[in-house]
Amino acid sequence: MLDDSVDLENEEPEIEENIESGEISDSDIAESDSEDSGLSAEENAALMEISSLPGVGPVTTKKLHDVGIYTILDVAVRGPTDIADATSFETDKAVELCNKARLKLVEIGKFDKDFVPATEIYDRRQQIERISTGSSNLDELLIGGVETQAVTEFYGEYGSGKTQICHTLCLNVQLPVEQGGLSGGAIYIDTENTFRPERLRDIAVERGMDPDDALSKIIVAKAFTSSHQELLVGELGKVIESSNARLVIVDSLMGHYRSEFLGRGTLATRQHRLNRFMHLLTRTAETRNVAVVMTNQVMSAPDAFFGDPTRAVGGHVVAHTSTYRLYLRKSGKNRIAKMKDSPYHPEHEAVFTLNERGVDDPADAKSKKK
Ligand SMILES: Nc1ncnc2c1ncn2[C@@H]1O[C@H](COP(=O)(O)OP(=O)(O)OP(=O)(O)O)[C@@H](O)[C@H]1O
Ligand SMILES: [Mg+2]
Repeated sequence: MLDDSVDLENEEPEIEENIESGEISDSDIAESDSEDSGLSAEENAALMEISSLPGVGPVTTKKLHDVGIYTILDVAVRGPTDIADATSFETDKAVELCNKARLKLVEIGKFDKDFVPATEIYDRRQQIERISTGSSNLDELLIGGVETQAVTEFYGEYGSGKTQICHTLCLNVQLPVEQGGLSGGAIYIDTENTFRPERLRDIAVERGMDPDDALSKIIVAKAFTSSHQELLVGELGKVIESSNARLVIVDSLMGHYRSEFLGRGTLATRQHRLNRFMHLLTRTAETRNVAVVMTNQVMSAPDAFFGDPTRAVGGHVVAHTSTYRLYLRKSGKNRIAKMKDSPYHPEHEAVFTLNERGVDDPADAKSKKK
């Protein structure tokens, strides 16, 4: 654990990025996909070629390929600021490129138009899928489990169960829908070297899964620095496709940022980088229809007079970009999760436990509602 005293979350300036022109919002994910469009996989792939955009030649295409951007969807997900930084394109050019990509995606039915009736948004939200956490209490708190197309943040002190939740989710996502999964794989971005395949094997066996098969469906990437972590997330698109992943874990979000950006003077840069990273995660969740789960540490908040004097690190940038935030705390042998700042979940609490099955319901306790 790092010294929290350098985390000046309260005083951080909020950096507003100018990437909104190419930004992808919640309303962008069209329901139609390759199967509905009546096109073959090859025809779809050709439509997604960057070079099919007007005015984009081989030089630009190569520069984009060099930084891991292979399709029009990748262009849209990465966004203009990221593309400008990675390729040394002028910002104007990157913005234009992203706008063209977006128009093309609307044209071929991959994205919805900018303005849509609320009924369409409602219908689309009915398509959101959920992954069971392993505890029915916790699932109930999440109204069915961890959602696709959203970023769910679990934060809490050491040993509160963040990494255990991530491990259990990596297995549960593989289960069929009727058992709480999405019949998909998982991608685990491990920044703290706490990914433990042996623990996964044990949990898999306890849950009646084949441990070898289960491990083969989890792709792990160790992030050595914050910029490496950003690079990995920037390249997620291809890996998600090739591994049929429905879940992306980032455990933990802030570890590297906290150790690399020490002191007040570096805070603005850190928040700027973090903001970009968070937007990339959100866009990935939305456009790839995956659940993104990340963990976060807490720091003490001496200015809090009431309640638990801890808060998640990362400041407003993280608080505003996570779709759902759950605060975990220890309670004897059990753990208590509380939903914070959700657009539609009530502020309930749920009791769960950590055992040989990973995350589980406590033997004796029932969900405690506030
Ligand atoms: N094999 C196991 N059987 C039962 N409980 C276990 C087992 N392995 C770990 N745990 C429980 O999980 C806890 C550790 O939780 P976890 O690693 O998820 O913490 P964390 O919130 O990720 O903490 P940190 O902030 O340090 O990353 C242990 O204290 C223990 O209670
Ligand atoms: Mg952990």
